[in-house]
Amino acid sequence: MNLGHLIFYLILISGFQLCGQATLTTEERNQRIRDRWNRSLVDDTNYSFNKAANNLLVQTSSSVKPGKALCVAMGQGRNALFLARNGWEVTGFDLADRAVAQAKAKALEENLSLTTHIASFKNFEYGSEQWDLISWLYGGCLNIDGISAKIKESLKPGGLFIFEFFHREAGISMDRPSFGCTTNSIRDMFVHEGGFEILLYEEKEGVADYGLDKHKLIYMVISKN
Ligand SMILES: C[S@@+](CC[C@H](N)C(=O)[O-])C[C@H]1O[C@@H](n2cnc3c(N)ncnc32)[C@H](O)[C@@H]1O
Repeated sequence: MNLGHLIFYLILISGFQLCGQATLTTEERNQRIRDRWNRSLVDDTNYSFNKAANNLLVQTSSSVKPGKALCVAMGQGRNALFLARNGWEVTGFDLADRAVAQAKAKALEENLSLTTHIASFKNFEYGSEQWDLISWLYGGCLNIDGISAKIKESLKPGGLFIFEFFHREAGISMDRPSFGCTTNSIRDMFVHEGGFEILLYEEKEGVADYGLDKHKLIYMVISKN
């Protein structure tokens, strides 16, 4: 086979792979996410992540009066449980049903109230002026149509939105060039949305809660006007 043929077949194969991904239904895509995170958060006892609550959430929530909190992509509940232990009325959602069940079991064991839903970023009903705090921690780069408007609508005036995730430079350093959020993209989304005050926005080195390695991370806290 000459080089021309080889390149042709490589393009053909990658085209099929893309087609295969493109033809997944929403439920198939959600099932993949569910399986992947149930495996990491529940089954794989060697999976490396910070089982204590996220530091930005701990710092930020400690200086405000507890109210109603929403933990987006709550995982196995480390952050939701922390908030519930500290007097917050907590709701969390995630696709990973067995991780959520683990959080529920822990809440029951500690006699804490915790409302949970099995839902995706897209189909969760965020509601209107519901939340004093929304956490979006290690749940990706908010690539969901209209999400900044939904977050704004669902926060009470003065409510906080807390975000932490990998910067794109971290993705590149891990050989995952499309992983992580690009410079200022998360902040700009909310600046363009309007109606928020940026209380904290930093792109700096820190120990990532997932993987526990040092990487460039994005930290953001904003409040709804
Ligand atoms: C890295 S874990 C973070 C979990 C938790 N926020 C924490 O900080 O421990 C990512 C979580 O996002 C959830 N997730 C990923 N894509 C999702 C989607 N489209 N809708 C809802 N949850 C999703 C996964 O199931 C997983 O629990």
